[in-house]
Amino acid sequence: MTVLVKMPAENFDSYLASSIHEYAEENITSGRWPLEAAQARSKAEFENLLPQGFSTPDNYFFEIMDSQRELVLGYLWFAIKESFGDRSAFIYDVKVKDVYRRQGHAKRAFFALESIALRLNVTSIGLHVFSYNENAKALYELLGYFVTGANMRKNIGIQTNIDPN
Ligand SMILES: CC(C)(COP(=O)(O)OP(=O)(O)OC[C@H]1O[C@@H](n2cnc3c(N)ncnc32)[C@H](O)[C@@H]1OP(=O)(O)O)[C@@H](O)C(=O)NCCC(=O)NCCS
Repeated sequence: MTVLVKMPAENFDSYLASSIHEYAEENITSGRWPLEAAQARSKAEFENLLPQGFSTPDNYFFEIMDSQRELVLGYLWFAIKESFGDRSAFIYDVKVKDVYRRQGHAKRAFFALESIALRLNVTSIGLHVFSYNENAKALYELLGYFVTGANMRKNIGIQTNIDPN
C-alpha cells in the first residue's frame, strides 16, 4: 500500500529546491528565523549537510510511493550518524503531498523506514519537529517517539510586561 523507493538521482534537484523553500518557510513560521535571507540561510544549511549533494555519504533519499510504484506520494530523507558506538538514524525531512494526507502513508513509510534502519544496524531514529507542527507531533507520538529536549528562544529589545523584580 505504501513503499519507500530509493529516489532516482534525476529527481533530486527538484526535491532539494522545494525542500530548501519549505524549510525556510517552516523556520519563519516557527519564529526561529526572520523573513530576510531565510531562503539563503536554508540553502546554506542544506549545502552544509549535503556537501556532495545526492552522493553525500550516509544520506538516504526515498520517495514514498504506492505499492504499484506509480505515484510519488511524498519524500523521506535520513542520515546515519555514529558516535561512541551509538549508531542512529536522523530524519531530516519527511513529507506527504497534501492530497494524499490522512491516509496512513506517513505511518506506513515510518514502519518501512524502521525495517531499513534495522538492516543498517541502527538502534534508534531521531528527528526534529517544530513546536507549531501539531500534525507531525501527533504522528510521531502515535509512532512511539518521545521528546528528548526543546529549543527555546526569546526575541529581545522589544518591550514586554515582564516584571524583572
Ligand atoms: C506530518 C505528515 C508527514 C503526516 O503525513 P500523513 O500521511 O498525512 O500521516 P498519516 O495519515 O500516516 O497519519 C497517521 C496518524 O498521525 C496523526 N496525524 C497525522 N496528520 C494529522 C493531522 N493533520 N492532525 C492530527 N493528527 C494527525 C494521526 O494520529 C494519524 O492517524 P489517523 O489519521 O488514523 O488519525 C504530513 O501532514 C506532512 O507532510 N506535513 C507537512 C510536512 C511536515 O510537517 N513534515 C514533518 C516535518 S517534522
